[in-house]
Formats: sequence, C-alpha cells, structure tokens
Amino acid sequence: MSDAELVNLDVNQPLWEHFFTVAPLILVGTKEEDGNYDLAAKSQCTPLGKSNYFGFVCTPHHNTYHNIKREKVFTVSFPHPEQIILTSLSAAPRCDDHSKPSLAVLPTFSATMVDGVLLKDAYLYLECQLDRIIDNFGENSLITGKIVAAAVQNKALRLSGFDDQDLLLKAPLLAYLSPGRYAKIAHSNSFPFHSGFCQ
Ligand SMILES: Cc1cc2nc3c(=O)[nH]c(=O)nc-3n(C[C@H](O)[C@H](O)[C@H](O)COP(=O)(O)O)c2cc1C
Repeated sequence: MSDAELVNLDVNQPLWEHFFTVAPLILVGTKEEDGNYDLAAKSQCTPLGKSNYFGFVCTPHHNTYHNIKREKVFTVSFPHPEQIILTSLSAAPRCDDHSKPSLAVLPTFSATMVDGVLLKDAYLYLECQLDRIIDNFGENSLITGKIVAAAVQNKALRLSGFDDQDLLLKAPLLAYLSPGRYAKIAHSNSFPFHSGFCQ
C-alpha cells in the first residue's frame, strides 16, 4: 500500500472515533458504599497473560473504580449477544442522588468467593481479587485482578473432540465494535498457525 492511501491522524487528539476496533463486552460487578451491588459495562478489558489475571480500563469518575479501591474485589460477567439491552442498561447514567435505577431490571445472583453479584445467564463468570490499580493513563486507570473463582456455561465449554465452530453456533459471542456497534459472532475460521508454532 502506498503512503498516499494512508490518512495521518492527529495524536494530540483522541484517535478512537476515526476507525473501528473489536473488543469483548463485559459487566464488572462491585459493591457500593451503601451496601448495594453495581454492574457496569466495560469494553476495554483483557486477560493478562496465562496466569489467570484479568484487567480492564476504568475512569475514576465511575463508582466502579472507587468501589474496587475500597472493597478490593470485583466480578466479571460475559453476556450473550441476546443480553445486549441488559448490558446497555448497566451503563445508564446515575441520578442526582448517584443511584442507578436501571440496575433493578438486571437479574443477578451472588458470587461464590467474593462479595459481589453476577449477571444471570451470562456465559462466563470471573471473580477477582484486586491485584493493583495503575492510574494516570490520561483520565483513565487500569484495574487488574487475580481470578479466584471462574465458571463457564456448559453450552460454552470447549471440550476436546468437539468442533469449535459448532460450539460458536450453539453459543455465539458478543463483540463490541468501538465506537458504538456490536456484533454476534457465530462463524469463525481456524487460525492458520505456522507448523511448529508454540506460544
Ligand atoms: C458499550 C460500552 C462500553 C463501555 N466501556 C467502558 C470501559 O471500558 N471503561 C469505562 O470506564 N467505562 C465504560 N463504559 C461506561 C460505563 O459502563 C458507564 O459510564 C457506567 O454507567 C459506569 O457505571 P458506574 O458509575 O457504576 O461505575 C462503557 C459503556 C458502554 C455502553
């Protein structure tokens, strides 16, 4: 591709509205100061290596950040594509008294190892103990946790001898296409690994 086909972007401005990137879409669960439980949508999230750490980006303007700083734990629910409206409701604005009434319609159940709730009927659950918070990525922080409990829906569990493509047809994944779109992923291809590849 010649340089003439590239558009240079101003790195002194936020870049991310000018193109699409793909990310998971999760609900992070925390305990509020008043004892209620919060769920909030997050798309900037990732496993951290293979040793069962998980991290996500959060601004200190959100309750999620302060709840985790105080309680030192959080939960993660990975919703199915059919749960997109519930996911969106978890990101509804707070009222003047800082309550988030939209949470009342989110079906939840208690986590097993940490003080928090999880979204019912999601396909993957993580319960995390705070590892560290790294502040000052501009306005944002990276919150990382050690996973202390995890569960996956039976229909989303990979099993040897079963076809991965069939699994995705049975349990499609929810992807966030930032900014502002989402996709249901039911079709995929095997990655063309080089012979002898090892991670
Ligand atoms: C699709 C989507 C993705 C989001 N991703 C993030 C994210 O990665 N980090 C973040 O801090 N907020 C993210 N948000 C915004 C929070 O979910 C939202 O501000 C929420 O109300 C914060 O709730 P809290 O005050 O209970 O923490 C996202 C919202 C939506 C709708």
